[in-house]
Amino acid sequence: MNFDLTDDEKLIRYTAREFAEKEIKPIASKIDEEHRIPDEIIAKMGELGLLGTYVPEEYGGAGTSFLAYILVVEEISKACASSGVLISAHTSLCINPILAFGTEEQKKKYLPKLCSGEKIGCILLTEPEAGSDAANIQTTVEEDADHYIINGNKIFVTNGGFRGIGILFATYDKSLKHKGICSFIVDLSQEGVEILRNEEKLGIRGTYTTAFLLNNLKIPKENLLGKKGEGFKVAMDTLDGGRVGIAAQALGIAEGAFDRAIAYSQERKQFGKPISSFQAIQFKLADMKMRIEQARWVTYYAGWLKDTKRNFILESSIAKAVASETATFVTKEALQIFGGYGYITEYEMERYYRDAKITEIYEGTNEIQRIVISKMLMK
Ligand code: CAA
Repeated sequence: MNFDLTDDEKLIRYTAREFAEKEIKPIASKIDEEHRIPDEIIAKMGELGLLGTYVPEEYGGAGTSFLAYILVVEEISKACASSGVLISAHTSLCINPILAFGTEEQKKKYLPKLCSGEKIGCILLTEPEAGSDAANIQTTVEEDADHYIINGNKIFVTNGGFRGIGILFATYDKSLKHKGICSFIVDLSQEGVEILRNEEKLGIRGTYTTAFLLNNLKIPKENLLGKKGEGFKVAMDTLDGGRVGIAAQALGIAEGAFDRAIAYSQERKQFGKPISSFQAIQFKLADMKMRIEQARWVTYYAGWLKDTKRNFILESSIAKAVASETATFVTKEALQIFGGYGYITEYEMERYYRDAKITEIYEGTNEIQRIVISKMLMK
């Protein structure tokens, strides 16, 4: 068993850490308040290779392992969970299905723009009636001679507000249930795509969470991704990888909150001593660290399984559930260590607490992860 990272993995982790510490951390509160990540930050992510980590170099990517991508999302999320999920949704939910199911033409056309950050990627899967029940898609697709024509509503689209590239799911025959679903690559700046709203949220407020109306949206035939009727497979495979990305985001949030809590506990004096000298605080920190290390290793392990082309459905759901529950636990305890200051915006701990919660919800609620895990156990 080898737990060492490769030199490339260490290098990209260092690059992401330095960038996060120097350029993102100082403005993380501003990102939260202004509900947007500055364009310069996104452009820099592209320049540093953080928007196309494991994409082969021939398509404009950094050519790293999947584990390297996990390390990047973790490092960025330590400083700013919104920036972490921008990378994660872009990579896992848009780039990955193109890499896994795209034709050579599709890869050449879309991946370089996505890796550079010229276009930001997202997934248009969820609908008002198709959340946890992802197969219950109501958005329809019809064909004419050269095009597919799409009509429907999509919600909860992380990164949707950029109007970049989307992976879109629609059904050509609802009676076929999941076997009637197709997936497409869509340019979201085109006619027929209307943004209904960008949601106001509890956390990850620097991200767009967009609702779309698709009204006679015309998509060229060559933009079908995978085969007709195999869209649900594309969605499930995509989410398997995506869930490891969310686990990495959750791990980063937990670590960011933990680092701040340990530093604060050593500075803050009460009863004439740093509060870190009290066992009540030490035990909290010990419990937080135990949970973080559990989350780290299930997440890295799931990433390693994907890199080594093994089945990782079970481990992906385990990583997502364990890491997200670690993030909500650790941020709650970290806020408690900060006491009254934890509740005040200026100290930033309340942002970690707010940001953590979504990791238990998106890319499949933790209840859905338990369904996936138990189904795998019964196989
Ligand atoms: N990986 C690969 N294949 C899978 C799979 C997985 N995790 N789960 C199911 N499948 C396959 C099954 O093997 C089956 O294949 P066959 O047709 O070949 O037999 C097929 O999918 C259907 O399986 P089920 O009958 O089990 O499907 P189901 O309708 O009962 O649904 C589910 C299963 C696990 C509940 C699924 O609907 C699911 O994952 N739901 C959650 C959806 C989700 O995560 N949504 C998040 C959207 S993205 C987001 O959050 C927004 C964002 O921008 C961040």
